[in-house]
Amino acid sequence: MVKICCIGAGYVGGPTMAVIALKCPKVVVTVVDISSQRINGWNSDHLPIYEPGLDDVVKQCRGKNLFFSTDVEKHVSEADIVFVSVNTPTKTHGLGAGKAADLTYWESAARMIADVSKSDKIVVEKSTVPVKTAEAIERILTHNKKGINFTILSNPEFLAEGTAIEDLFHPDRVLIGGRETPEGQKAIQTLKEVYANWVPVEKILCTNLWSAELSKLAANAFLAQRISSVNAMSALCEATGADVTQVSHSIGTDSRIGPKFLNASVGFGGSCFQKDIMNLVYICECNGLPEVANYWKQVVKVNDYQKTRFVNRVVSSMFNTISAKKIAIFGFAFKKDTGDTRETPAIDVCKGLLGDKAKLSIYDPQVTEEQITKDLSMRKFDKDHPAHLQPPSPTSIKQVSVVWDAYEAVKEAHGICIMTEWDEFKKLDYKKVYDSMQKPAFIFDGRNVVDVQKVREIGFIVYSIGKPLDPWLKDMPAVVA
Ligand code: NAD
Ligand code: UDX
Repeated sequence: MVKICCIGAGYVGGPTMAVIALKCPKVVVTVVDISSQRINGWNSDHLPIYEPGLDDVVKQCRGKNLFFSTDVEKHVSEADIVFVSVNTPTKTHGLGAGKAADLTYWESAARMIADVSKSDKIVVEKSTVPVKTAEAIERILTHNKKGINFTILSNPEFLAEGTAIEDLFHPDRVLIGGRETPEGQKAIQTLKEVYANWVPVEKILCTNLWSAELSKLAANAFLAQRISSVNAMSALCEATGADVTQVSHSIGTDSRIGPKFLNASVGFGGSCFQKDIMNLVYICECNGLPEVANYWKQVVKVNDYQKTRFVNRVVSSMFNTISAKKIAIFGFAFKKDTGDTRETPAIDVCKGLLGDKAKLSIYDPQVTEEQITKDLSMRKFDKDHPAHLQPPSPTSIKQVSVVWDAYEAVKEAHGICIMTEWDEFKKLDYKKVYDSMQKPAFIFDGRNVVDVQKVREIGFIVYSIGKPLDPWLKDMPAVVA
């Protein structure tokens, strides 16, 4: 019986291992983490992450062939295959700060594997890492050990949050990279057999180690680049009277471009896109490719521009002052169907509005007050480190209230900023919302969820990303940052 241990019980480790356990009843899977809070969550009725369909999968196999434990060393030493799915956040200080990946957690996991192992193991990079990381990991693993063989594989994860279970059940592909040696090829075959329990073999791609590592960074860079491209178009649409939804549809029908991932928004968020692009930028710079680095850097710059543009639009529309005005924030998560707020555009937008002294009333169906307070008081990138290493946050922030109902958030508000495309924001009774607000009442839709025509008829002044401007907004002078 194959024994798998996964180090890191986060957004990737938890769902991925739960699906492997479900699809491979003969494999025993144990997920370990240094955070006892996370592990307790995985062993409880309230899983530590919100992901549609996840509860059901965990319930079916937990206690049978799926286990969660803080006894990291024991389970690593007993495993045949060790996945490492720990944080690889952007470095916050030292060489490469703001760009390079911080491999502290990966290195400490690798050292521990080397220390506790008593038998041969396949070590799988599940975390997203810089290309050539496997080489460094191999050196760490083989450093102190005599007689134990470690074979390293790269098996990057492509799931997206909010659709993780569906993505894991029906992946576009599974990518496995390994050394082009007999041991490397044998290890690839072993991991391939695990996935082949439910993934068609033609969708399991096998490459060398460096191609697999780089493909993950490249895939995220390409995806994010599409969003920045359409967001750049959205600014031009607003200036010209074109409608970005129509433009996206028109270009997306070209089969070479395709329709997916062309939704203009207030900006992309999530723990991966910015981090992985900056990591790519750093690798290009280190390899003497400044032009390539600048090309990819621009994707992040346009994303920052989109968030700044949004805040400027709010301020300029509301007579150039939002001081002491109540603004309702609909949604705080970086996308719908997740409670994850890492790099959510809502953080930058809220900070921008708070900088102009607005009062915010924030509502998100999955994000707690504690999380929002933490996010608004923390430095960029700090929160992608393990929770117990993060600085303590204040219990509340002046000017910010967090409520558990959208109608509560809008009472006496001057404006609404829609930050996350939760389905419920499409279905609200906007007449009721309008009636409880100060007039003129504004909607700034960062996700194009409201029916612009309908809410305009109710009386709202509406700004929707990349849509023809409301006559009111056209007349307001633009604010310059
Ligand atoms: P996460 O923060 O949710 O989980 C990482 C977990 O690792 C944490 O619970 C932390 O306590 C634990 N950990 C850190 N060091 C450890 C150690 N030495 N021993 C045991 N546990 C340790 O992060 P995540 O979102 O699951 O991401 C993990 C990796 O997967 C990252 O490299 C990320 O870039 C990549 N990735 C993430 C996604 C995503 O959608 N979140 C998708 C694809 C790839
Ligand atoms: C991403 C990749 O999609 C996934 O393959 C990888 O494994 C991890 O990073 P994730 O960040 O979870 O997944 O979500 P994704 O659906 O990619 O959305 C990222 C951000 O882009 C969100 O803020 C989303 O709202 C935004 N987005 C997405 C847009 O603004 N427009 C789009 O058309 C699509």
